[in-house]
Amino acid sequence: MGDVQVTEQMFSHYVPQFYGSVISTCLVAVSLLFYDWQMALAALWVLPVALVIVGFSKKAQNYFTLRQTAASLAVAEGVQECLETIRDLKSCKAEQEYLDGLNKKIDALEVRHIKSELGSAMFVAPAQMILKLGIASVALVGSMRLMSGELSLVTFFLFLLVVSRIYEPMNFSLQNLAAMNSLQINIDRMNEINESPSQSGETAFSPKDYDITFDHVGFAYNSGETVLKDVSFTAKQGEVTALIGPSGGGKSTAAKLAARFWDIDRGRITVGGVDVGKVDPERLLTAYSIVFQDVTLFNNTVMENIRIGRKDATDAEAMQAAKEAMCDEFISKLPQGYQTMIGENGSTLSGGERQRISIARALLKDAPIILLDEATASLDAENETEIQQAISRLVEKKTVLIIAHRMRTVENANKIVVLSGGTVAEMGTPEELMKKNGAFARMVKLQTESQNWSLG
Ligand SMILES: Nc1ncnc2c1ncn2[C@@H]1O[C@H](COP(=O)(O)OP(=O)(O)O)[C@@H](O)[C@H]1O
Ligand SMILES: [Mg+2]
Repeated sequence: MGDVQVTEQMFSHYVPQFYGSVISTCLVAVSLLFYDWQMALAALWVLPVALVIVGFSKKAQNYFTLRQTAASLAVAEGVQECLETIRDLKSCKAEQEYLDGLNKKIDALEVRHIKSELGSAMFVAPAQMILKLGIASVALVGSMRLMSGELSLVTFFLFLLVVSRIYEPMNFSLQNLAAMNSLQINIDRMNEINESPSQSGETAFSPKDYDITFDHVGFAYNSGETVLKDVSFTAKQGEVTALIGPSGGGKSTAAKLAARFWDIDRGRITVGGVDVGKVDPERLLTAYSIVFQDVTLFNNTVMENIRIGRKDATDAEAMQAAKEAMCDEFISKLPQGYQTMIGENGSTLSGGERQRISIARALLKDAPIILLDEATASLDAENETEIQQAISRLVEKKTVLIIAHRMRTVENANKIVVLSGGTVAEMGTPEELMKKNGAFARMVKLQTESQNWSLG
């Protein structure tokens, strides 16, 4: 927004003014040259010199502007981060330390601003002084020629009068020119956003069914790292496929890739035989209901937050979905029920409540593919069982990909895929994997043990 503002300022004020004064000065210069070319040269030689000096400052100014921009970004990020993390900062008693750091950044920005102003003054001030030399040279050349009788007194005074006014528009424009010098930096920053590649694809999407197949998929967020090395599995329609594995093993990544949140580096992901990389992302997402680990809620009413699942849903439908996701009870306790505003990102709700609203959204959308990423992780055991029932009602004939920590959540899955180190470590039904006595069996055993721990 800052870049847009700068560009607006430049193009609606500085640029027209600069060219306006260049044109008017040129016209005056041409008439002066016709009138008396020697006097005109004495008045005009300073103009190109001043322009060249300011033109030369471009490199220096770009340098200053780049560093100033970096400093102001650091301040903006620091302030935002502080506001977002104030709770954690307070709980760790790190508030003062953080604010000290932020103050340093603000001081650095101040210094950058001063340096950048000095940087342009270094060029603009000499250029403006040189303009003033024009008056001196007119006086000098004029009086010499007056004495030798080449020039009339009237012409001399005329030139002195003109020369005292002719530099005014240019004087002003030199400052603008200095500011215009670094405009390219703002334009480049905006172009960077414009030119970042966006996903595209065909809007027609009619898969023969909704089986999701990962075929030797490789993916990394940043080049050089690997998150998924070589992952192949199929999540069948009408079945629940559970992705489990160590934290950071790429489960969430795999689920997001199935909905084409990113494009993969190697292999293929297909839905009903159609490569998801070839489908328009918006169109593709109409086939997905997604409940993420981190729920996003909007500063709106509870009702509208649920209706995001399907824009044209009636109130009754939204309330039905809320009931099925076990939201009804806590919503009825809110001061205005479904019409209660829930604050920025649902800050007035507990983790479990937020999760349930997000599940209600997914139920309302009722899409053929359901991705649940630790959807029930922040619910207590009782709620979890109830929601699992709601989910199991919903999942008939659908493709369900579920990511879960609790083994209890996945023991009824039709298929389990253990993701570890970017590859599929094990795959099969829960019974098969228990018999195999591998990674899955180990995880189940560990969790059962920890559940049996008691105090005393
Ligand atoms: N948006 C992201 N940008 C860069 N790296 C990421 C991003 N999301 C996750 N990662 C990295 O990818 C790896 C797998 O993460 P994730 O799929 O969330 O694992 P899991 O869900 O199994 O815990 C981790 O090392 C994580 O740091
Ligand atoms: Mg995850």
